[in-house]
Amino acid sequence: MNSKKIILTGDRPTGPLHLGHYVGSLANRVTLQDTYKQYILIADLQALTDNYEHPEKVRSNVLEVMLDYLAVGIDPKKSTIFIQSMIPQLSELTMYYMNLVTVARVGRNPTVKTEILQKGFGESVPLGFFVYPVSQAADITIVKGNIVPVGADQLPMIEQTNEIVRAFNRTYNCNVLVECEAVIPKVARLPGIDGKAKMSKSLGNAIYLSDPADVVAKKVMSMYTDANHLKVSDPGQVEGNTVFAYLDVFDPNHAEVAALKEHYQRGGLGDVTLKKRLIEVLESFLKPIRDRRNEFAKDPQYAMKLLLEGTALTEHVASQTLNEVKEVMHLVYKG
Ligand code: TRP
Repeated sequence: MNSKKIILTGDRPTGPLHLGHYVGSLANRVTLQDTYKQYILIADLQALTDNYEHPEKVRSNVLEVMLDYLAVGIDPKKSTIFIQSMIPQLSELTMYYMNLVTVARVGRNPTVKTEILQKGFGESVPLGFFVYPVSQAADITIVKGNIVPVGADQLPMIEQTNEIVRAFNRTYNCNVLVECEAVIPKVARLPGIDGKAKMSKSLGNAIYLSDPADVVAKKVMSMYTDANHLKVSDPGQVEGNTVFAYLDVFDPNHAEVAALKEHYQRGGLGDVTLKKRLIEVLESFLKPIRDRRNEFAKDPQYAMKLLLEGTALTEHVASQTLNEVKEVMHLVYKG
């Protein structure tokens, strides 16, 4: 086994990142970058698989996502951040991997299945979208990544990647590729402000890292609490209460949150009081992030320069891996 720990992770640039991303993977990446070699890709190729008609949207969000990364403290000196479409080796590797995966297997991938339903593709699912798990396996393996900090919804991608790794090494009788493991966040998942299980851009229930303070406050005031908690004096429910779910994650004072829960269940604690506390808690978390983001946003060329530097470093590693792959596949031709 390869004992070097290398991280590969990333996001689709289809919109700015939100608190769900933070809890789901950004927080882990900020911590892990101190210990491991970390590559972070901005997955514009993958974003295009269901946004091919909106290339300008994907393009502009590459920078937004980069600014979000810098804002939360991903440090380009420690982490190599790169643009997926600028690494042609990824597309080539995907092509080789496609021989090792059946249509039926991708069709059984639970995340792909869910997304096909959500996006209403039905039978007309674009092939590019359908094969994105294979392209994601290329993303991870091209830098020989063996740690992947992602949200739990990405576990099927890791499983599929490891199947490809094993099939490749077995078929070409080598150990060029390495298996990977996911690093899943401690907090299961952050609900949306509407109380739905997942915060997501498409559900319109997200608080963005870049939201101004007044927007955050408005979103918190509209949060789903307990439909039966009508009067302040009524006993309220803590389970399924979005405000408490957020306080559990972001309020550093656990003892006070425990006392508030008790008070709420007893009756006499109003939603507005509770929401005002959450607004303060979120503001002290988001303000430094927003300030840093605004600083970096003043010089988009600098952010782009950092991205291009990261991309050049990655391409160097990618071409080495691809050479090894082509070697064992008898694809190296010399005159
Ligand atoms: N699938 C991820 C998402 O939807 C993005 C992604 C692309 C990714 N390639 C990756 C994540 C490789 C981890 C590793 O956000």
